[in-house]
Amino acid sequence: MRKKVIAGNWKMNKLPNEAIEFIEKLSELVKDTQNEVIICAPYTDLFYTLMQAQGTNIKIGAQNMHFEESGAYTGEVSGEMLKAIGVEYVIIGHSERRQYFSETDETVNKKIKAAFKNELKPIVCVGETLEQREQGITEDIIKTQTKLALDGLSRTQVKNTIIAYEPIWAIGTGKTATSEDANNSIKVIRKEIEDIYGKDVAEEVIIQYGGSVKSKNARELFETSDIDGGLVGGASLDAEEFSKIVNYNK
Ligand code: PGA
Repeated sequence: MRKKVIAGNWKMNKLPNEAIEFIEKLSELVKDTQNEVIICAPYTDLFYTLMQAQGTNIKIGAQNMHFEESGAYTGEVSGEMLKAIGVEYVIIGHSERRQYFSETDETVNKKIKAAFKNELKPIVCVGETLEQREQGITEDIIKTQTKLALDGLSRTQVKNTIIAYEPIWAIGTGKTATSEDANNSIKVIRKEIEDIYGKDVAEEVIIQYGGSVKSKNARELFETSDIDGGLVGGASLDAEEFSKIVNYNK
């Protein structure tokens, strides 16, 4: 049985004092869950959230990293730096990074490899645009993104990769894919992994759904056969609302 993994993506939100307050509140609300809880905070909040999350079941992730270890890359943060302060997860290739910061399947692949080199668990985002969906090429897009993202990884590394299927048209729009639709896309991703890395690997990989996940729709989404939890943006900013998503099965 795969575990349910619920990750919050704060994006460019929360000052350190707000972040500390959030973790304090959330840790109480999710202390009994069997599900994995991750908060992906902005760089400036990472240290504070890590300190506040000590001794709780909340894990901390970053939202991006550079693929080089160090060097003349003004404004960038490396996997080694994240690892050094105790970060355990990192989102790679979020559609907002692909769209606004020119990330490509190639840089995504390099970043995933650099994450593993630094013992960070990558949460890799794939998903189609509305245009691609309307053209009927969703399956091709998500298969290609998955294949290129994981290219050159070992079977063990693939098993330890979290994939977030995030249809771009559903992010921050209030439009959620139906649970059936999301589950089907995730099955396509799992099948692609099976074709390349084998059934045992595909059966172990955590594949989340992301895109307007709320406490109201979490249960329906997460109880399908292949959706292993969610990557949650807007609804992760409020501790109470996010805790209801984490505790969807209570
Ligand atoms: P949303 O964002 O939940 O606000 O739609 C999800 C994401 O971008 O990861």
